Formats: sequence, C-alpha cells, structure tokens
Amino acid sequence: MSGTDGALSHGGPARVNSDVALARAVVDRCRRLAACSEEPGATTRTFLSPPMREVHALVTDWMRQAHMDVTVDAAGNLRGVYAGDRAGSPHLYIGSHLDTVPHAGAFDGILGVMLGVAVVERLEGRRLPFAIEVVGFSEEEGVRFGTPFIGSRALAGTLDADLLDRVDAGGVSIREAIRVYGLDADRIDDARATHGALGFLEIHIEQGPVLDQSNLPLAVVETIVGQTRLDVTFEGAANHAGTTPMAGRRDALTGAAEWVVAVEREARNLAGLVATTGVIRALPGATNVIAASCRCSLDVRHASDAQRHAAVDRFTAAARAIASARSLTAHWALALDQPAVAMDGALIERLDRAVAEVGVPSRHMASGAGHDAMVMASCMPAAMLFVRSPGGISHHPDEAVEIDDVAVAIGVSGALLDDLSRQP
Ligand code: HGY
Ligand code: MN
Ligand code: MN
Repeated sequence: MSGTDGALSHGGPARVNSDVALARAVVDRCRRLAACSEEPGATTRTFLSPPMREVHALVTDWMRQAHMDVTVDAAGNLRGVYAGDRAGSPHLYIGSHLDTVPHAGAFDGILGVMLGVAVVERLEGRRLPFAIEVVGFSEEEGVRFGTPFIGSRALAGTLDADLLDRVDAGGVSIREAIRVYGLDADRIDDARATHGALGFLEIHIEQGPVLDQSNLPLAVVETIVGQTRLDVTFEGAANHAGTTPMAGRRDALTGAAEWVVAVEREARNLAGLVATTGVIRALPGATNVIAASCRCSLDVRHASDAQRHAAVDRFTAAARAIASARSLTAHWALALDQPAVAMDGALIERLDRAVAEVGVPSRHMASGAGHDAMVMASCMPAAMLFVRSPGGISHHPDEAVEIDDVAVAIGVSGALLDDLSRQP
C-alpha cells in the first residue's frame, strides 16, 4: 500500500498507506470475515457460535499487527487497545458488532470494527493523548436469544443477571453459551467500559436508501429511533385438515395471518412508523394439521417513543380483537423496549468539523436501524457516522460499500482523532 492522499492532517511525515489503500484492506477483511459462518454459502454468525472463534483469531492478528493489546471480555467482546502517549490516558472507543443476522451481508457491524483497526493503522505508530479501544461486540442483532445488544450492555453495565438466564431455541442460556465459549459470566462486571471515556464512535453502513438516493458518501447520525420487539402468540385448537369443516375451526395460523396483515395496513398509514413480522412459527407445524398455536415476532420503530408505544398498544388491541372474533386467545411478551437515543451534540460538532476538513458533502439524519451506539450512549458520549449503502440494501448478501466512501470515512475518522487531540 503506497502513496498518500489528502492533506497531511498531522503535519508529520507522509503516511505510507493512503486512505484508499486502507479502505481496500478494510473491505477485503470484511469479505474474509463473511466466510466465517454457521452455514456454508451464506453469512450467519450468532452470539459466540463456533465461527466467532475464527473471527476472533483473524481480528486479533490484525489488531496485534497494529500494535494493539487484545483481550476477549466475559461477554465475548473482542477488545483491542492502542495505548495513548501517557499512562492512564482516557479511552476513545471505536467499534460495532461482529455477529450477523441469518444470510447477512459482509458489512453490517463488521465494517465498523475493521474501520476502527484501520484508523489505528493509519496512525502508523503515532501516539495520541488518549488510548483508542476498538471493540468487536459479541452480539447486537438479537438473533440467538431474541434480545439484542448483549455485548454493548456488558460495557455499559446493563447486562443484568436475569438477562443471562434467557435461553435460545435449544434451551441454552446466555450464561451457558459464555461458559461453552470458555469465558466466565461471573466476570461480566470486569467488561465495563473505563471511567472518563472520551466517547464512543460507531461507523456503520446506513442500511437504507437515503445516502444512495441523495448521492452522498456519508452522514452524521443525530438520533437512533426507538424500537419495540414483541413475541405475540395466538392459541387455537389443532384438528384434522381433511375432516374438519372450515366453519368452526380455531386456526391459530390464519388468526395470526389476519393480524400480521392488519399491522402492515396500520403501519402504512402512520408516517415514520415501521412494523415488521419477520418470524412466524406454527405448531405442531404439519401440512395436514390445523395450527394449534402460532408465534409471531413484531418489531416496531418510530423516532417518537410516544408514537411507537401508541402504535404497539393498537397492535396488541388488534391481536386481542382478531383472536376473540376467531375463538382464539392472544398473548405477548415484551423482548425489548429501547427508547430513541440522541447522539452526543459535542461529538456531532466534532464530526461535522472533521467532515468539513476532509471536504466531502454529507448530511445529518436519523437512524431507523438500532445500533450499539444507543446502548453505549448510556455510559459515555456516543456518535455515529453512516457510510452509503449502494441500493439501500442490508440484512442481505447483496449488502455493499464503495471503496471511495470507506476511504472518506477513514479520512473523516482520522480528522476526528486530530480534533480530539487538539482539544480532548
Ligand atoms: O435491527 C436492527 O436495527 C439492527 O440491524 N440490529
Ligand atoms: Mn443489523
Ligand atoms: Mn448493525
């Protein structure tokens, strides 16, 4: 990787690696990690599943080559620390998650971790008046246990004991999964972020169409919308598909189906609201048996917590009304009620200055996707930089990034480090 580009923000000797060269390495590494999967031919990597070991081994190597001290904490977060220029330097955290949704793309989460390593590599040995801690969170998506942010909750100190007892579809608890991985859940408290941290920066693909449609490489995030995740179950009565007349059936699956479509219709009518059922499981789950029960997930998001809560109330009332009309019952359990979180104003100003210094167009926007930054914001100033998602595609194998956009994100991050160095 040779040649330099852009203004030398620190006035030192010419950097060996240009931001474009670093960006190529970032994208190559993301694609290499995408091959670490629970299933061949797709990228699926959930909380501390076996392929996460391979990810930890690869990223540990890359971090150590960048002169970082690497550990794995009790929640399975990979933590690489690049020391500051003095003992006891405050930490600037840069990171995102290493887990994925099923059949994911290569960049959701992982890009933010690889960019953190690249920003350290870009220093080429230069030390700053603060340490940089790059964190690869163990779990953000909530796929395996139905509840997200396990990794970042450990740093924020909100990973409470009863959460560790949540079990996956196989009956394995979070606590047991941590033990099987070779870690000690009793040490969770040691995973907490250091006091007096300068803040947390998460660089993440936008995962939506806004930057692509406005032809912008980057955005500075102002707010991350709130989200509710519910498990809704309809209960009816199994019976023979061939001998049971249509009249009088108590079919849990058709009841759930009517409700799912009703939710979609309601969500379409309220600006800024999104509601999604991504999981639907009918039992006993046989072609020739009327479903006795049907469990549906529900993911509801809106920038206003009041509007989101009001919508969730309408959705649960509709579940009860549809169930009653069909002689079914409906019940639900709350898996997550995550308030909307504003990003830190001072860090937003610093990011805006860094964007201006690099001289690229950008914009402010809200994030419709949830991110670890909303958890980290509970224990330190947090900010997010979005990188354009070509085609607005994410949570899909076709998820992509442009090398030049990644290079610009690296340049802006470098300018942010200089801004923080001048006035931490
Ligand atoms: O679901 C989300 O918003 C994020 O991708 N975990
Ligand atoms: Mn995601
Ligand atoms: Mn993500």
